[in-house]
Amino acid sequence: MSIITSLTRMWLTRSTKPFIFKNEYDNVLSYQDCDNLGLYVHIPFCRSICNFCPYCKVRYSKDLCNRYIDALLREIHAVGGQQSGKKETNSLYFGGGTPALAADRLGEIIGAIKEHFVITEGIGVELHPDNVTPDVLRTLKTAGVTKISIGIQSFQTKFQSVLGRTSVDISAMKQALSEVPFETVSMDFIFALPNQTFEDLKADVDAAFQSGANHVAIYPFIDFTFTPSTVTTMPKKEKRELLDAITRYCMDQGYTRSSIWTFSSEADARYSSMTRDNFLGFGCSATTLLKDQFKINTFSVEEYCNRIAEEKLPTSLTLRFTLRQRMIYYLFWTAYSTKVAAGGFEKFFGVPLKKMYGAELKLAKLMGFVTEENGVYSMTLKGAFYYHYYENFYTLSYIDKMWGVMRKEAFPQELTLG
Ligand SMILES: C[S@@+](CC[C@H](N)C(=O)[O-])C[C@H]1O[C@@H](n2cnc3c(N)ncnc32)[C@H](O)[C@@H]1O
Ligand code: SF4
Repeated sequence: MSIITSLTRMWLTRSTKPFIFKNEYDNVLSYQDCDNLGLYVHIPFCRSICNFCPYCKVRYSKDLCNRYIDALLREIHAVGGQQSGKKETNSLYFGGGTPALAADRLGEIIGAIKEHFVITEGIGVELHPDNVTPDVLRTLKTAGVTKISIGIQSFQTKFQSVLGRTSVDISAMKQALSEVPFETVSMDFIFALPNQTFEDLKADVDAAFQSGANHVAIYPFIDFTFTPSTVTTMPKKEKRELLDAITRYCMDQGYTRSSIWTFSSEADARYSSMTRDNFLGFGCSATTLLKDQFKINTFSVEEYCNRIAEEKLPTSLTLRFTLRQRMIYYLFWTAYSTKVAAGGFEKFFGVPLKKMYGAELKLAKLMGFVTEENGVYSMTLKGAFYYHYYENFYTLSYIDKMWGVMRKEAFPQELTLG
């Protein structure tokens, strides 16, 4: 499996050099002249731990959570204070974990961020269904949150029990969402679960839009090697049929495909922390992407707090990109929005996309993966399936390996992803 990702990487980066992450950090981050900059804050606490979940999280304790947020505020000021004036950013997303467990302190975190940054396109927070109560929603709204994303996974008992999740009270959730409205209400679902049919998935999507969502994210189930989940993965053919059927259904309903995994029923409903050219990440496991480097913070909550107490940034590993590596990273995540504009690439890298990847784009067109209009490449249904398929290999070869190591070691010496 990793042979596919290795060969693709060598072909597209025109080099045998793997991605080498080193145990080095910079106390100053060069984000000041980055355009299209996003912000991310990680809150790694959950009431209980789900068997399928790969993210960096620990069981919630009020004490530890407060200590963590004190450290987080210091990290924000340490990075934000490196510039004079306020830097414009497009968005701020809180992920986890379950950020609403710290709902009473999100206002304080947002306040610290706003001392250094201007946020132009709103603030998003990931929620567990248990968090969707009028009280919590009001607290978030007062803090300045404009978008929420609720991790439903499935409304159906048979899949909730496979995933070890409890049932969701749809009418209470609908009531809370109508009492406290947000610009974007997204709901997350997982597809390609054992014996899941199009009817199952359609029922979930319909229930989401009927209970207050204006955006849904349908993620393919990924079986991470280090999670205790026993869920088996769906065969490729079935998965493709399911993905094509639900995509066609959403398009027929008039929903817009706002990214490879997401559909919205209203034009302004958007929720994506991924399609940003550059971003700064704060907190455990948060990543930072700049023009020439990628950084990932330590996964250990204790070591994170210790590092901040020593007045050092909590970076665990740094990858310094070659130009082609950065181009591939850019193209992979821009393609997630289902469109790549040649003009955007040229603006970012100062060189035409056709000059760097003309042959690959021609091949992608010939194979029916993309179409081109006025320099904008749009993914076809077939292209979207193969993106999904390839993303699965990428996740298992790169993210699974990296997170597997980072969960065990707070500051690994080096990590090579081939
Ligand atoms: C950090 S989690 C969600 C927020 C919240 N803590 C919750 O559980 O409801 C973000 C989303 O990732 C998706 N996810 C988690 N584990 C996954 C897996 N193994 N495969 C595919 N998607 C997954 C889920 O849809 C989940 O809602
Ligand atoms: S899925 Fe959500 S609640 Fe479950 S462990 Fe992951 S972050 Fe926590």
